[in-house]
Amino acid sequence: MANISIRNVSKSYGSLKVLEPFSLEIENGEFVVLVGPSGCGKSTMLKILAGLEPATEGRIIIGGREVTDLAPGDRDIAMVFQNYALYPHLTVRQNIGFGLKMRGTARAEIDRRVEDAARILEVTPYLDRKPKDLSGGQRQRVALGRAIVRQPQAFLMDEPLSNLDAKLRVHMRAEIGALHKRIGVTTVYVTHDQVEAMTMADRVVIMQDGIIQQIATPDELFNSPANLFVASFIGSPGMNFLNAELKGGRLTLFGREVTMLGATAHEGRVVVGLRPEHLLLGEAPVTFPVRPTLVESLGSEKYVYFDAEGARLNEGDEGRSKGLIARVSHSGSLSKDEDLVLGFDPERLYLFNAETEQRL
Ligand SMILES: Nc1ncnc2c1ncn2[C@@H]1O[C@H](COP(=O)(O)OP(=O)(O)O)[C@@H](O)[C@H]1O
Ligand SMILES: [Mg+2]
Repeated sequence: MANISIRNVSKSYGSLKVLEPFSLEIENGEFVVLVGPSGCGKSTMLKILAGLEPATEGRIIIGGREVTDLAPGDRDIAMVFQNYALYPHLTVRQNIGFGLKMRGTARAEIDRRVEDAARILEVTPYLDRKPKDLSGGQRQRVALGRAIVRQPQAFLMDEPLSNLDAKLRVHMRAEIGALHKRIGVTTVYVTHDQVEAMTMADRVVIMQDGIIQQIATPDELFNSPANLFVASFIGSPGMNFLNAELKGGRLTLFGREVTMLGATAHEGRVVVGLRPEHLLLGEAPVTFPVRPTLVESLGSEKYVYFDAEGARLNEGDEGRSKGLIARVSHSGSLSKDEDLVLGFDPERLYLFNAETEQRL
């Protein structure tokens, strides 16, 4: 086990800059998730950590040892990728032990480590099967087994679950979390899925266009997003945004004048963020009438879609919905085209500078 120190690492391909200088201190035993949209530089960062790509600038220290110029095999890390090609002609036992055999580890030691890993991953009954006789989840566990037997200082995982179906993904997510608790090896995990990041991470590094937007625990990201991008990326359904004008600590939302307690000295255009779960049905400090355009029932909860003056589209929402969403607890029936009253507590609002998109 080891801490990992990433110091001012940047990466360019020719004139294309894909990672701005990136610094991160990962503690021994920590589970850190790099998350962000496709193309933001997550895999590049992981490949640099693994030694599969050289950094353009900067240094990497793993367990107190500078590895910046070391080959992947000399870094004492193990990787698990999305495409975990198992050797089809080898048994599970041989697949898990393959890397150790290549390194010339003694037979008895290989057997011991493979059996330990198989027990941890609960694949002992399948040790003599071939990959084709396993389910997707079992194969993924075998791929993890190959990493575990190495007993590395750190695990690097790049979207290891994205080839699995939704249900299995949720299951494996929990299994990887449990595995990490049991063996406690420092892990850097890459995903584009904010739910995976939020549920698995001790700390999340959220990236956009090769730039770190925020490094924080899942709760901090959700409750205190640093900017509009983080606020829109974290949470499902996503945060609602409205354009408004802040004057003397007051603004108008849904036709109501709202006083922002402890508002900043900022004057002028702002973007107001309001999470769907912070819109309440009925009783609230500020209420307003709406006519839903759509109501989706999830049983004890309803998603109420509605249009409002000032609504600002989330990125990627163009053409899909121009409205806002309230996620309300309600087990009775609610229908579209029937007026209802929604409300919110002004303390739950997030304010962002409309120009810089930073939170005020
Ligand atoms: N070998 C390469 N040559 C040129 N550009 C690359 C290369 N590898 C990745 N890129 C670019 O770097 C950016 C980040 O890629 P990547 O790290 O794979 O993103 P992510 O894993 O977040 O989806 C992308 O714009 C990608 O096109
Ligand atoms: Mg990637």
